[in-house]
Amino acid sequence: MKAAYIERYGQEQLTLGQLPKPKITSAKQVLVKVLKASVNPVDLKIQSGKLRPLLHFPMPLILGNDYVGIVEDIGEDVKSVEIGQLVFGRISKKQIGTFCEYLVDEENNLAAVLSALTLQEAAGLPLVGLTAYQALFEKMKAKSGQSILIHAGAGGVGSLLIQLAKMQGLTVITTASQRNHAWLYSLGADQVIDYHKNDFTEVCPPVDYVFDTIGQETLLRSFKVVKPGGKVVSVSGLPDEKFAKDYGLNIIWQKLFKLGSYKIRKASQKAKADYEFLFMHPDGKQLEKLDELVADKELEVRLDKEFAFNDLQAACDYVATGHANGKVIIDVVG
Ligand SMILES: NC(=O)c1ccc[n+]([C@@H]2O[C@H](COP(=O)([O-])OP(=O)(O)OC[C@H]3O[C@@H](n4cnc5c(N)ncnc54)[C@H](OP(=O)(O)O)[C@@H]3O)[C@@H](O)[C@H]2O)c1
Repeated sequence: MKAAYIERYGQEQLTLGQLPKPKITSAKQVLVKVLKASVNPVDLKIQSGKLRPLLHFPMPLILGNDYVGIVEDIGEDVKSVEIGQLVFGRISKKQIGTFCEYLVDEENNLAAVLSALTLQEAAGLPLVGLTAYQALFEKMKAKSGQSILIHAGAGGVGSLLIQLAKMQGLTVITTASQRNHAWLYSLGADQVIDYHKNDFTEVCPPVDYVFDTIGQETLLRSFKVVKPGGKVVSVSGLPDEKFAKDYGLNIIWQKLFKLGSYKIRKASQKAKADYEFLFMHPDGKQLEKLDELVADKELEVRLDKEFAFNDLQAACDYVATGHANGKVIIDVVG
């Protein structure tokens, strides 16, 4: 089958070539013929080798985490989907790879596309939608009447989190370039800060939660606006020791993350607020809920560009600019 892969970490250009078609090897697996996939910044991080402490893969490694496609075969214990059905998912973190014609995934990671999601929306929603959902409902457990600052509201994750947070009754403040302000207000944001012109710590009121997608200084300075007793959740900062332990990393990595997150810990203690790193996980049931929200017009998935499979490298280069304006889709059959 055709596939886009790397043969070593740090390889700058993806190889487009032929690899063997995968087969189901356990009773709860599903073989999917991929129609479309989407590119996420995490694909580039995996390619560079930056995520090696958290994710180990054999080479060659097909990149890609999101997909929509048709079920071609199912294991004997698969109950929720049938052969021929349209499904979408965020593939298992144990063995990724959606930039290819066929993939095998665990039943629990995917969901049938039951609503009027377009193929592009279904390919673009899983990773960013699940991240936003898990930040709000698993890590923050946010309630109506509370407030949140969302960094990079115009990003794939940020734009979905704005909408989920508004649905949950939160006051939403977000950061974005001026060109995206009108759109983010239309999604429900109460205040949009132009991060090129304003220091968010000077214009953002105290908030119950901060969601950070930027890391480093932005993460550290986020503790200046979080209320005592509040929480900062980051998807781009350094994981801390607790995360390393819960994730099952060995004692050396636990100590390294403890050392690496020293400044974050200090800032969090000073602000009397919590810090948690979120490493999103696949979840088919949560995808069903997100699918319903899109069908009910409660959630909008913004699409930027679609690239043909042969132009995958150009799609990755575009995402690498950090200024994609919605989801970047790959037409795998095109
Ligand atoms: N740990 C996890 O499980 C997890 C899960 C998902 C994502 N992530 C990470 O989260 C980050 C965001 O992911 P994404 O999919 O949302 O990315 P994305 O869609 O590629 O984000 C692009 C957007 O970021 C905005 N942006 C760039 N720099 C900014 C800044 N300094 N302040 C405010 N906005 C800024 C840009 O808006 P403008 O053009 O308006 O500037 C652009 O619209 C990535 O680093 C990704 O790897 C981690």
